[in-house]
Amino acid sequence: MRTVKWEDGVVITIDQALLPNKEEWIKLKSCDEVAKAIKEMRVRGAPLIGVLAAYGLALTAYHSTAKSREVFLREIEQSANLLRGTRPTAANLFWAIERILNKVKSSAGGVETLRHIVIEEAQRMADEDVEVNKKIGEFGSELLDDGDTVLTHCNAGRLATVDYGTALSVIRVACERGKHIKVIATETRPKLQGARLTVYELMRDGIPVTLITDNMVGYVMYKGMVNKVIVGADRIVRDAVINKIGTYTIAVLAHEHKIPFYVAAPLSTFDLKSSSKDVIIEERSPDEITNIGAERIAPPGVAVFNPAFDITPIEYVSAIICEKGVLNKEKFDRLIEGKWMI
Ligand code: MRU
Repeated sequence: MRTVKWEDGVVITIDQALLPNKEEWIKLKSCDEVAKAIKEMRVRGAPLIGVLAAYGLALTAYHSTAKSREVFLREIEQSANLLRGTRPTAANLFWAIERILNKVKSSAGGVETLRHIVIEEAQRMADEDVEVNKKIGEFGSELLDDGDTVLTHCNAGRLATVDYGTALSVIRVACERGKHIKVIATETRPKLQGARLTVYELMRDGIPVTLITDNMVGYVMYKGMVNKVIVGADRIVRDAVINKIGTYTIAVLAHEHKIPFYVAAPLSTFDLKSSSKDVIIEERSPDEITNIGAERIAPPGVAVFNPAFDITPIEYVSAIICEKGVLNKEKFDRLIEGKWMI
């Protein structure tokens, strides 16, 4: 099941803010609507917001009434700027925008040709995402043993991508290949992607999953209930993995308990020109912490710190699983030096 579709100038996607209580598909008809859906986290997950951004530009291209190449390109640039301002941390968003911009600017032709090129490139990126995630699943499944219990955080599943997911693709493929894998999913405060989305996806697939609160991770590891950790990533830089807030805590605990800590992510999440000090960590509204649903749980006026992501130093990562294979520290270092051909 794909999470996003393009139908004649309309982008159709699941409203993730309503899951798991309601599965409602929303129709996005302009780049403004796409940008709003990303900002409000109706769509979320690094690979998916990358593809959505590409489709946002495709909507601008589709509806453009520009009469000249110059005006058309200016409209695309304006939409690109709007999309860049939605969420600052996930590399895929910026990667997707740059890929479309490079393609359209380097192509010859008038408005009709360019319009076609943008839409086609966005569709290609959606298709590629599915293929890439299948590969991540195939490579990563080799790391899992029959009988493993894998802890995951946030939602790096089908809902965070066009299909399959990244971390959950690894688990899915291992299960498809006959391994008996159980999952422990953290609820992932404050937006509860684990409780609302990961659990929903895995239960639909018939993969055994147990939900815990974020502060139970130490205890389940202490009790020997976890063999491996697999999470996704929003950005992978030279010295760290940036992922949903809470990932760093899990990585440190995994290290302490000698539990392998794997990160599954496509190459579009890699930003190897940057290091952790260059990364902008998104800070979101205090309401996400002071309220649960409509109910306020903290006294009015309390100071709140609400970073959406954290930074896990690369030393804590046992390996990164991408579409080209499994990167241990040595291979990752060679990739940074540009010596590993990909
Ligand atoms: O704030 P979100 O829900 O967009 O954060 C998502 C995550 O942190 C995921 O783990 C990450 O994007 C990987 S998704 C394949």
